[in-house]
Amino acid sequence: MKAQIIGNSDVIQDALSLVSKVAVNDVTVLITGESGTGKEMVAETIFRQSPRLGKSFLRINCAAIPSELLESQMFGHERGAFTGAISRQEGCFERADKGTLFLDEIGDMSLMTQTKLLRVLQEQEFERIGGNETIRVDVRIIAATNKNLLEEIKRGKFREDLYYRLNVVEIHIPPLRERMEDVPALVEYFIADFAKKYNKPDLKISSAGMQSLMNFNWPGNVRELRNVVERAVVLSRSVQIEPEDFPEKIRQPGPMPGESSDDEHILTLSDMERMYVRKVLEYTGGNKLKAARLLNIDPKTLRAKLGQ
Ligand SMILES: Nc1ncnc2c1ncn2[C@@H]1O[C@H](COP(=O)(O)OP(=O)(O)OP(=O)(O)O)[C@@H](O)[C@H]1O
Ligand SMILES: [Mg+2]
Repeated sequence: MKAQIIGNSDVIQDALSLVSKVAVNDVTVLITGESGTGKEMVAETIFRQSPRLGKSFLRINCAAIPSELLESQMFGHERGAFTGAISRQEGCFERADKGTLFLDEIGDMSLMTQTKLLRVLQEQEFERIGGNETIRVDVRIIAATNKNLLEEIKRGKFREDLYYRLNVVEIHIPPLRERMEDVPALVEYFIADFAKKYNKPDLKISSAGMQSLMNFNWPGNVRELRNVVERAVVLSRSVQIEPEDFPEKIRQPGPMPGESSDDEHILTLSDMERMYVRKVLEYTGGNKLKAARLLNIDPKTLRAKLGQ
C-alpha cells in the first residue's frame, strides 16, 4: 500500500511533522487513536521515511492470535518445541533484523507475552521457543493501539514498564469527528481513487452530497468514510455523487437546530417548515421537483416556502 496521508487539519499536519522527525532515528514510537484513524498508515509512513527503508517491514497483529501462537510468531521456535512444531521456524524479530517491526493492537497482548517483549526491548536479545541459543537482533519497533494504555495499566492489563519503553514518542491521531475540516480533502482523494478503479472518470460530488458527509459524526473514522465513498462511486448514476448514494444513516437529517428546552430557542412553525423543506432539498441533492413530490406539494408552493 503506497497510500498518502491526507489532511490539512493542524493535528494531522503536526502528526506528519512528528513522523518525519522520528523516522530518521530509531526511536520507538507508539501510535494511538480510535479504530480507522490511520494508525497503520502512519506506521508505514515512518518506515518509508526511515533509513531502514531498504530492509524488511513486518507487521504482527497482537489481537488476532492466541498468545502461544503470537509468541511463536514473534520469537520463532525450535523443532519439537510443542506439538506441531515440525521444524525450526524463525520469528518476526529475527526476520525483521536490521528492519522494522510493527506491533499492531499491542493493547491486546497478554501480560505474559508483554513480559517477554519487554526483555527483547531492553536487551535486544531472546531465545526461540524451546531453544537455548540467545539471538541478538537490531529491530526498530513501532507499536499501535486503539486502547487507552494508561487505563489498561490501572486495570492491571498492561505493564507500566513496557508502556514507558514503547511510548518514547507518542503519535496520537484524533478521531475524524474532531477534525471535520479534513473530510473534504479525504473525500476528493477517495473519489479520485475509486473513480479510476471503477472507471468513472470525472465523477464529482455535489455540494449537498458533501454536506451530508459533513453532518455525520464518523464513529468508524476514515475507514468508514472511505467505504462510504467507495459505495457511492459504485452506486452513482450521474456525473455527481448525491446524498441518495449514501447509506440511510448518513442521509438522515441530524437533530434540528432549535431542539432545546430553552424557550428562546423555540422556532416558529414556519421557520421549522422552511428548515425541513431545506433538509428535504438537501436530501434530493437540490432537485426541487423531486423535493416537491416527496413533500406532496406543488413546486410553486415549494419555492414560496423557501421564500424564492
Ligand atoms: N489521513 C488519511 N489519508 C488517507 N487515507 C487514510 C487516512 N487515514 C486513514 N486512511 C485510510 O483509512 C483506512 C484505515 O486506516 P488504518 O488501517 O491505517 O487505520 P487504523 O487506525 O490502523 O485502524 P484499526 O485500529 O482499525 O486497525 C485505510 O484504508 C487507510 O488507507
Ligand atoms: Mg490498524
